[in-house]
This record gives sequence, C-alpha cells and structure tokens, in this order.
Amino acid sequence: MRATLNETSIVISSNFTTDVQLGWKIHLASIDMTAKQLLLRDLPADLDRELLPKHVAVIMDGNGRWAKQHGLPRMMGHRRGVDTLKELMRCCKDWGIPALTVYAFSTENWGRPAEEVDFLMMLFEKVLRRELQELIEESVRIRFVGNLPALPDSLQSEIAHASDATRHNHALNFTVATNYGGRQEILQACRSIAARVKSGDISIDEIDERLFEQYLYTRELCDPDLIIRTSGEMRISNFLLWQIAYAELYVTETLWPEFDRSAFYQALVSYQKRDRRYGKIQPKKS
Ligand code: FPP
Repeated sequence: MRATLNETSIVISSNFTTDVQLGWKIHLASIDMTAKQLLLRDLPADLDRELLPKHVAVIMDGNGRWAKQHGLPRMMGHRRGVDTLKELMRCCKDWGIPALTVYAFSTENWGRPAEEVDFLMMLFEKVLRRELQELIEESVRIRFVGNLPALPDSLQSEIAHASDATRHNHALNFTVATNYGGRQEILQACRSIAARVKSGDISIDEIDERLFEQYLYTRELCDPDLIIRTSGEMRISNFLLWQIAYAELYVTETLWPEFDRSAFYQALVSYQKRDRRYGKIQPKKS
C-alpha cells in the first residue's frame, strides 16, 4: 500500500484491498488513530527514500500539558508518552530511518518534585523490562547515554541488561538520553582528553574534531540530521549540543503524547524541503 498525505487528507494510491476504494480521499479527522497508523505503515509516496534523515533526535516535550488538558495527573502524560515513543520507533523501522535518539531525562530534570522523578525512574525501569523481548524480536538495538552511574542501581542493571541483550541488533539504533546534559558531556570529554595529554599519551596538536567525538557518549552514532521538538518551545535545552551543529531543527505545537505518524510525516516533509548547505553556498547550475 502507498499513501500520500497532505494536512487534511490521505489519498490511497495503489492496491489497498479493503472497502476503501482507489482514489478516495479520507479526511484525517474522520478516521480513528488505529486506521491512521495503518494507512501510514509504508513510507508515504511523496517522501524521497534517498533523502530521509539517517538519524532523528527528539525532544519529547508536552507530557504534562497533555495530561492537564485531559484532566489527568502529569504521570499519565508520561505513560501516554511511552506509547507515542513505541509507535515512533516502529515508524522509523517501517520507513527505513536507521537511528532514533530521544531525550528522556535531562540533568536538569532532577529539579522536578521527587514524586515525579521517582515515577520517571520507575517508568524507565518497568518499560525496559516489559519491552525488552519485543526490542529483541524487532531487532532494535537500545543504548542509553548520559551520566548513568548516578541513576538508581536497579535501573542501571536493567539498562546494562537491555543494552547487552540487543547489542547485535541492527534494524534500528535506538538511543535514550537519560540523566543527559550536553554541557556535562562536553566537559567529561575535555577531562578525559586532558588526562591523556597530561599522561603524555597524546599531544595537544592531536586534538581535533574526530578525536574529540571519540570521547562523547554518542561516539558510535552519526550526528543527527533532524532534531524535532514537540509542544512548541523554540530551544535546545542542553540536548546533544556538539552533535546537532548542522542538524535541521523542526518544532511542532503538537504535544508529545499526540505526536503520531502523520505528525512525523509532516516533520519529514519539512526536512526534505530544506537546503542543507553546511555553511557553504549552493553551487551554480551550468
Ligand atoms: C517532557 O514533558 C517529558 C519528560 C521529561 C519525560 C519523557 C519520558 C518519556 C516519554 C518516557 C520514555 C520512556 C523510556 C523507557 C525511554 P514535560 O513533563 O516537560 O511536559 P510539560 O512541559 O508539558 O510539563
């Protein structure tokens, strides 16, 4: 099945064999979530497979606001956020995007009420335990980046177990930034490099971008091509400061729990219209 989509409609353009007939326009508002997700199982035809980002990073914001809008406690927003994340992972796999990195807990998030921090730690642990088998079956490799030794011991064990159990998987590189701060990451890289210089292992002249990147938590990943922030705020919030130097930024008003495949599609459409020049100018057409 192939589906193209604009803001208000999906056009079925090939052999979709239910009672939905070829060429019918279906208004997004009139079909339920499950049907929407199903219709977008394949990469929408108007997206260029060759121009998809190889690595998408996401600041998942708006769980609290979503919960408030629905008269629910904040924790329910985080719970619902996990479902959104699972669906985005499936979508990246289905559409052929090989790496996804999400910001689950920042070094600044410790400043939230203890009840919420404890809930999030418990949620990460519970979700990891519950979803591990599916990650293995779906060939997803999960990694955590951040100051992991400061996390609760039981969560650290679950992280180590899941990272090890999925280390040979290759369908999707899924990275969770937990107790992560971009400045802290850069500082710890500087300290490690300084120690090597001090010990005479390397000289100052050997420090270049390539060497520096080897000391970042993300050393095994390519830089993100696209960074998405949900719920409208126009800031980076200490996320992947080094790595996003040339990433395209996409901010949507959609709250994280409502960021579905069609919202992701809109982000990719926007990304594919960008002119990525990396500081250079466009070569003149002859
Ligand atoms: C930001 O929304 C969201 C978070 C701080 C937590 C995000 C975590 C998840 C979605 C769970 C991920 C789970 C795993 C296992 C990786 P907010 O609370 O800042 O929302 P607000 O700005 O509307 O208050």
